[in-house]
Amino acid sequence: MDALDAVLTKIEVREFAPEDVPYYIQKKVLEAGRMAGSAYNRQPWIFILINDKELLEKVAALAPTGPYISKAAFAVAVFVDPRNPFYIIDGTRAVQNMMIAGWSLGLGSVWVNGLEREKITELLKAPKDFYLLTVIPFGKPAKKLKGKKKRKPLNEIAFLNYYSNELK
Ligand SMILES: Cc1cc2nc3c(=O)[nH]c(=O)nc-3n(C[C@H](O)[C@H](O)[C@H](O)COP(=O)(O)O)c2cc1C
Repeated sequence: MDALDAVLTKIEVREFAPEDVPYYIQKKVLEAGRMAGSAYNRQPWIFILINDKELLEKVAALAPTGPYISKAAFAVAVFVDPRNPFYIIDGTRAVQNMMIAGWSLGLGSVWVNGLEREKITELLKAPKDFYLLTVIPFGKPAKKLKGKKKRKPLNEIAFLNYYSNELK
């Protein structure tokens, strides 16, 4: 799958097959995050790869809008340094890289935002002065994906040269 295909077809996946994902694939996902560009190339992030089943369940229990973390083959907790003014932007670029790379490797994932951040930070023994941006569960999708995205039409959100000048 090339990069454009991955971007155009990727949807969020919340149901995972009970299948392990080889460790080298898990690390490829991390590598994709590591390669993201960041402001001044400061790379203000820490990734924690979670592939211990019991730990995944503990994290899921602290994720009110992400119970599916418990069924993931692995998850990545992304921490960013709030002393860097671009921490959210930089961290998000790394996350998107990981999600798209995962998709191209046959893995679904979803951004989970509803998190008990302090408790997860403590559980994972992460530095307290870092902000837990998200925990992303990854795994083989449980169901065949339809891949139909609901998005605003291009003409509604993009213009040619000047705002409100329609794209042809
Ligand atoms: C900042 C952010 C927070 C999100 N939080 C959650 C979440 O807590 N739980 C969840 O199931 N999905 C969450 N999502 C996923 C969105 O619901 C999803 O990206 C959107 O509905 C588009 O889904 P699609 O690509 O499958 O069409 C979040 C996405 C973003 C970008």
